[in-house]
Amino acid sequence: MSANKKLLILAGDGIGPEVMRQVRRLVDWMGRRRGQTFEVKEGLVGGAAIEASGVPLSEATLADAKAADAVLLGAVGGPKWDKIEFERRPEAGLLRLRKELALFANLRPAIVLDALVDASPLKADIVRGLDIMIVRELTGGVYFGEPRGITTLENGERQGVNTQVYTTSEIQRVARVAFELARKRSRKVCSVEKANVMESGLLWREEVTALHAAEFSDVELSHMYADNCGMQLIRNPRQFDVIVTDNLFGDMLSDEAAMLTGSLGMLPSASLGVADATGTRRALYEPVHGSAPDIAGRDIANPIAAMFSFAMCLRYSFDLAAEAEMIEKAAAQVLKGGLRTTDIMAPGMARCSTTVMGDSILRALDKLNVGAV
Ligand code: IPM
Ligand code: MG
Repeated sequence: MSANKKLLILAGDGIGPEVMRQVRRLVDWMGRRRGQTFEVKEGLVGGAAIEASGVPLSEATLADAKAADAVLLGAVGGPKWDKIEFERRPEAGLLRLRKELALFANLRPAIVLDALVDASPLKADIVRGLDIMIVRELTGGVYFGEPRGITTLENGERQGVNTQVYTTSEIQRVARVAFELARKRSRKVCSVEKANVMESGLLWREEVTALHAAEFSDVELSHMYADNCGMQLIRNPRQFDVIVTDNLFGDMLSDEAAMLTGSLGMLPSASLGVADATGTRRALYEPVHGSAPDIAGRDIANPIAAMFSFAMCLRYSFDLAAEAEMIEKAAAQVLKGGLRTTDIMAPGMARCSTTVMGDSILRALDKLNVGAV
């Protein structure tokens, strides 16, 4: 294969750089051992970019992101930048990337690996074998809706405003992604909103229902209010296959789903854009966990979510499903062998650092690769 697969790595803040270091080793391994070479560029985003250039995403980095086939992002944010106004915060860099690359579909799988059943705060019987996919709308809703802002009223009171807004096409395109994914899984989609109190939720329900009837009647569709979905995810998470929901509800429900698996440190995500004439989509891959400033720089963070995000990148951006599965299998084997980073530590297991987890996964990959050729 040619070397024209372009990656941009934006490690960001907090534990971002240390987990992305392990991802970089995976990228290099793919070139060395599988002949899948990537042209890798690195850049700054979030607080790291603020320190270097005063803004959380420079024009040059945005241009690099647009030129890349895929962006691999670590994490953004930290207490150091908490007091800055919204548009200049680290998070604004990530939100701008999502918006400018039109990454409207955010895929957040929550899978409970056998070796980690006991890491979940829920009973093993409830989460064993769990495999759900949350599809979160990522470029609309209250995150970007206008008007927004804080104003002072005539009576001297202050007023904060945000707007939840969705159009037909925004709802249809993300629902389409969910239905198509469901066809490759258990053919079940649950669409989540608050149609009982929000017009935008009612429109969401109507549009999803219409699209389903027109194009996806082979998929089972159900609807659920977001509050009930939050409850059902705890009560009986295995009832779900694909969940499709808006930006804000998706933000909350995906953190909840992530925790079902035992640790935010295990959960990858893919953010996909609009397909062009050749079917290619812009894409950004990032772990669901944040920058975790409390443990940053100590080499104790779990690199698996970031490594699994690279696996998603191989699968969705480069059609390298076999290589993606190798990474997932290697990590599962290492966990089965008893190695644990602090976030998933359990009695009788061996605690290890970020680097040692990376070392072990690479070793497991080497072994799998010998078996594969
Ligand atoms: C996420 C994060 C982001 C979000 C933050 C960092 C802006 O929580 O990706 O879930 O709210 O979307
Ligand atoms: Mg979030």
